[in-house]
Amino acid sequence: MSMKIAVLPGDGIGTEIVAEAVKVLQVLDLPLEMEQAPVGGAAYELHGHPLPEGTLNLAKSADAILFGAVGDWKYDKLDRPLRPEQAILGLRKHLGLFANFRPAICYEQLVGASSLKPELVAGLDILIIRELTGDIYFGQPRGRRTAVDGLFPGADEAFDTMRYSRPEIERIAHVAFQAARQRGRKVTSVDKANVLETFQFWKDVVIEVHAQYPDVELQHMYVDNAAMQLVKSPKSFDVVVTGNMFGDILSDEASMLTGSIGMLPSASLNDRKQGLYEPSHGSAPDIAGKGIANPLATILSAAMMLRFSLQAPEAADRIESAVKSVLAAGYRTPDIWSEGTQKVGTREMGDAVVAALMGNGAGKTITTITKS
Ligand code: IPM
Ligand code: MG
Repeated sequence: MSMKIAVLPGDGIGTEIVAEAVKVLQVLDLPLEMEQAPVGGAAYELHGHPLPEGTLNLAKSADAILFGAVGDWKYDKLDRPLRPEQAILGLRKHLGLFANFRPAICYEQLVGASSLKPELVAGLDILIIRELTGDIYFGQPRGRRTAVDGLFPGADEAFDTMRYSRPEIERIAHVAFQAARQRGRKVTSVDKANVLETFQFWKDVVIEVHAQYPDVELQHMYVDNAAMQLVKSPKSFDVVVTGNMFGDILSDEASMLTGSIGMLPSASLNDRKQGLYEPSHGSAPDIAGKGIANPLATILSAAMMLRFSLQAPEAADRIESAVKSVLAAGYRTPDIWSEGTQKVGTREMGDAVVAALMGNGAGKTITTITKS
């Protein structure tokens, strides 16, 4: 039986990096059916909406979605519902993609690319699990109005609503404890229980769910302290679970610890294990079309897709070892390049992964490592 992948490249470097991941998927010899559709600014240009009905229906009907990136400064002046970012928020909401996995792994060869001291990040492997369909991102009511109370009654004001229901917290807590069982058996739940009612409730519910996982250690941390500990001793974390807003911020921070946001994949899953897979980085309009973007985060996202949504864990392992072997062979896109390694473009990096997968051995195709 073939598995269906909706391929949504999006904007900026999205098209270039997704093309490389598709190339990699095509040499795996798996029954994959891939169908492409526009999303984000590209879809707005074609259909006047960042998430056209055709794209949404394709995504709903697929087993998994391979997503590039959306956004460009040129759309900043559009009404909010028409901005590219709404496409990703819409997909999360319509498909119920509540569990966002954002691993931050520091690859051995890239330790020097981190802005932190090598000893702090060598061997770093943490997993941020961000709740993705609740919190202040989606809470109603929200909007603008004239203040009737507060410090300045009669003034214009804007407001959003932070809220979490018990089932929303329970299900993401289960995801985190189960993930921790496959790893270091430690969960850090990040909250702001000292100030926010929503996050006191979050903490209470996480403690309740934890009773079912006595083999996993649970730690609670306020979000400001977590931001600090992430740069002070990142390796003290294993799985971090938090809400939508804090997870947005902390996952960007964690990704930078590795020095190579161009390397980090992510997955957003619903309760049917249908998932959206995308690189952790954005659309990088400044380098779009130049053929220099790093496709590895997207290629590694395709590996996560095979493992989580398409029941093909061996193929996922093969991709991950192919990526490790191209790094070991010295291939680097400009974002991770350092003295003594070979600078390559987007397509060459994709080709190198394909070659490694085909057993050519990326190491054999490079005979000398040139300095540029
Ligand atoms: C992310 C992004 C999105 C978010 C934006 C593009 C809506 O920053 O996936 O982290 O805030 O969730
Ligand atoms: Mg973000």
